[in-house]
Amino acid sequence: MRVAMIGTGYVGLVSGACFADFGHVVTCIDKDPSKIERLERGEIPIFEPGLDDLVARNVREGRLFFTLDGAQAIKEADAVFIAVGTPTRRGDGHADLSYVYAAAEEIAGLIDGYTVVVTKSTVPVGTGDEVEAIIKKVRPDAQFAVVSNPEFLREGAAIEDFKRPDRVVVGTDDERAQAVMRDLYRPLSLNETPIVFTGRRTSELIKYAANAFLAMKITFINEMADLCEKVGADVQSVAKGIGLDKRIGGKFLNAGPGYGGSCFPKDTIALVKTAQQYGAPTRLIETTVEVNTARKKAMADKVAAAIGTTNLAGKTIGVLGVTFKPNTDDMRDAPSLDILPALQAMGAKVQAFDPEGAKEAAHMLEGVEFKAGAYEAAEGADALVILTEWDQFRALDLDRVKLLLKAPVVVDLRNVYKAAEMERHGFTYASIGRG
Ligand code: UDX
Repeated sequence: MRVAMIGTGYVGLVSGACFADFGHVVTCIDKDPSKIERLERGEIPIFEPGLDDLVARNVREGRLFFTLDGAQAIKEADAVFIAVGTPTRRGDGHADLSYVYAAAEEIAGLIDGYTVVVTKSTVPVGTGDEVEAIIKKVRPDAQFAVVSNPEFLREGAAIEDFKRPDRVVVGTDDERAQAVMRDLYRPLSLNETPIVFTGRRTSELIKYAANAFLAMKITFINEMADLCEKVGADVQSVAKGIGLDKRIGGKFLNAGPGYGGSCFPKDTIALVKTAQQYGAPTRLIETTVEVNTARKKAMADKVAAAIGTTNLAGKTIGVLGVTFKPNTDDMRDAPSLDILPALQAMGAKVQAFDPEGAKEAAHMLEGVEFKAGAYEAAEGADALVILTEWDQFRALDLDRVKLLLKAPVVVDLRNVYKAAEMERHGFTYASIGRG
C-alpha cells in the first residue's frame, strides 16, 4: 500500500518508518526544510533507540521517502496520515488544532481516487468530523473516509510499541476504510494483536481516556508513596501487593517525581477542558492534574529536607537525569523544568548531567551547569538527586560518589537504590515512599 505521512515529528517518523518496515511504501512529509534535509542525509532529529537503523534500512530498500512537497505522494496514497502536533493552546488549555486543520486543507486539494485520511495526532472528540467537513467543503466530489487511529507509543520503546502493541484502535464506520486499515496493520495479525474497530468519536476518546487513566494511576501511587512515608510503609511493596490483582495490574505503579512528557500533561488538561465544555466534568482527572503539579514543588522541598535546610544559598545540588524519562532526549513537560528552578529559587546552584537531554535542556534550564558525566555532576555537591532513571545511574560506583560529594546526601526520586545499601555506604539517603 502507499502511505503519505504528514508531519515528521516523533509520532509521524516512528509510524512512517514502522509502516515502511511492514512493507508499505511511505512518504514522510514536513514543512520544515532543515528537518527534511537532515532526514535525507540519514540524520534522525530525535533520540529513539533503534530508529536510525530502521529508517536507514527502509530508505535503502526503497520503501521510505522524505519530502517537503507532498503533493504527489498524497495524490497516490491509499492512506494519508495526519501526524502533526496538537500542543496546548495558550490561554485556554484546549488542544491547538490549527496544524491538523491545515493538513486537512492540504489533503483536500490533492486526493485522487478513494483515500483513507487517518488522524494519528491526538485530537479532541469531534475533530474527525471537522476534518471530514473541511475536505468535503473543498471537494464535494472526493471519495474518502476520515478514520481515527490513535497512537500509544511510549518514547524510548516506540518501535516495540508500534510493532507489538497491546491493541490497535480504528475509529470508522466505513467498511472500505476498515479494510484498508486492516491491510496496513496486516503484519500484526501474526502475533494476533486485537484491532478494536469502533466509531470515530469513541476512538478519539479512547486515546484521552487511556492517557488520563495512566496519569491517574501514577498519581494514585505517588499519593500512596507520601502516605507510606508518614506511616512507615513501603510503596514498592504496596504496588506489588495491589498490582498482582489482575483487575489492577502491576504496570505504571512506579512512584516518582510526578509524570511528565509530551502526552500525559497535555492530554489530561485537554480532556478536562473537553469534559467541562460538554458539561460532564472529569473530577478525577482535574484532581490528577492538580496533584501532579503540586508534586513537583514538593520534590524540591524533599531535597531541601534531606539537606536539612530550606535556605539553599551556598549549596550545590548535583542532578542526574533531566529528561522526563530515560532513553529519550525529550524535555517536554519534564519534572526537572519545575524542580530545578524551585531549587534555584531556594538559593541553590544546580549542576546536572543527562546522557541525551543536556543539549535541549540547556536552553530551557537557565543557570543550570551541565556536566560531562554523572561523577562530574556529583563533584563538590551538597546533595545528589537522581531524577531520571537512566540505566547508567543504576550502577554508580557509590564509594566514588561519596568521595566526590561535599556531603554524602543522595535523594533518589526514582527508587533506583536500596536504602540498606546506601546506608551501608554511609549516605544520608531519601527516596520515594519507603518510610
Ligand atoms: C505515554 C503513553 O505511555 C503512551 O501510550 C502515549 O501514547 C504517549 O504518552 P510517554 O509519555 O512516552 O508515553 O512515556 P511513559 O512511559 O508513559 O511515561 C510518562 C511519564 O510518567 C514519565 O514522566 C514517567 O517517568 C512517568 N511514570 C511512568 C511514572 O512516574 N511511573 C510509572 O510507573 C510510569
